[in-house]
Amino acid sequence: MTDLAVLHCRQLVTLAGPPGARSGPAMRSLAIIADGALHVCDGRIAAVGPRAEIERSFSADTEIVDAGGRIVLPGFIDAHTHPVFAGNRAGEFERRVEGATYAEIAASGGGIRATVRLTREASADWLLAAGRRYADWFLAGGTTTIEAKSGYGLSPDAEIKILNTIRQLNADARLRYVPTFLGAHEVPDEYLGRIRDYVDLVIHEMLPRVAEENLAEYCDIFCEPNVFPVEQARTVLRAARALGLGLRLHADQFSADYGALLAAELHAATADHLESSTPAALAALHAAGVQPVLLPASVYHLGSTRYPAARRMIDLGLPVVLATDFNPGSSPTASMPMVLSLAATQLKMTPAESITAATVNAAHSLGRAHKIGSLEPGKLADFAIHDCDDYRELPYFFGRDSAHAVYLAGRCVYRRAGD
Ligand code: NIG
Ligand code: FE
Repeated sequence: MTDLAVLHCRQLVTLAGPPGARSGPAMRSLAIIADGALHVCDGRIAAVGPRAEIERSFSADTEIVDAGGRIVLPGFIDAHTHPVFAGNRAGEFERRVEGATYAEIAASGGGIRATVRLTREASADWLLAAGRRYADWFLAGGTTTIEAKSGYGLSPDAEIKILNTIRQLNADARLRYVPTFLGAHEVPDEYLGRIRDYVDLVIHEMLPRVAEENLAEYCDIFCEPNVFPVEQARTVLRAARALGLGLRLHADQFSADYGALLAAELHAATADHLESSTPAALAALHAAGVQPVLLPASVYHLGSTRYPAARRMIDLGLPVVLATDFNPGSSPTASMPMVLSLAATQLKMTPAESITAATVNAAHSLGRAHKIGSLEPGKLADFAIHDCDDYRELPYFFGRDSAHAVYLAGRCVYRRAGD
């Protein structure tokens, strides 16, 4: 049983506040305690407050963690990642730098399908080892929970192999994983020109197995006219919902007011990307209670300047979420501090807004706001000690993963080498 007190936090950034996702001006309030402290019992937060107050609440047996005047935040919750894949696409990246587009590369057999070929060939052990390597990258930025999508298998066995890898990574208890089935990420080579047959495979073979083996909480789909058009996407998502899965969509990444309108129609949990959405689609998301998940690192890595309209979304009252979109094609970064930096410079989100988007709002989008996302009594003690004096340094010193130590349910799961 853990009994732990974290002392000497220059800023204890609690994000304490009313339950529910935050929107508008509420995104700027982080409930920071100067010289704060945390008391953790049995993996959960027992007390949060000024150091003098907390020091009175624990016993001689309590293990002391000295934050050394650094800042402490809830672990980041990265609500959109694709962390299980083989190989990488550094070669494609070079082609893109030389002028080829993401769509051209995909059309010539590269892109997602190229990663699918390699991932199908990889053994489960190989994928697990790669996943563990990436888990460390997430932790280094202070992330403690990730939503993890399949989607590089695109056959019943390969999708199950990926979801089982995610299950094993979660069992490591270093990083929390919320699994999402993304069997409709792309049409695989052997189904080219036969999208209806592939959708049948997803609906009649993959989804029932995923649900039967309880391998995913959500279902996602890449909804674009030239990948999965709205009609097919609706069919897949309705089938997923009937099996008890929550819904998330890759929406409006390239096409305006397309997937986002379907997300609104289906009252999905989230619509992710939204780089091409017009105000009409954003209003539809707001009316339907769908959370936008913004992925500025994928815009950056694709060399685009078409960032999502975060300010408009916040003004509309949408409870914005930020995530990395970690994947080998469009966003090879696991760093939430980097995403916070892009949110500041490109989306014009303040540091406080982006921290809210990466914690409380992300937890809500994953149906876990009662357990994680803020440092409040009763929640799991998932937190990171960042090597900074002030929370605004997180997006300010960019390109640096600032976690000094990371705790999951009160257990230290990461410590920066040399610290
Ligand atoms: O979110 N757009 C679809 N899926 C990923 C990219 C996956 C890949 O290129 O491998 C995304 O950007
Ligand atoms: Fe994605």
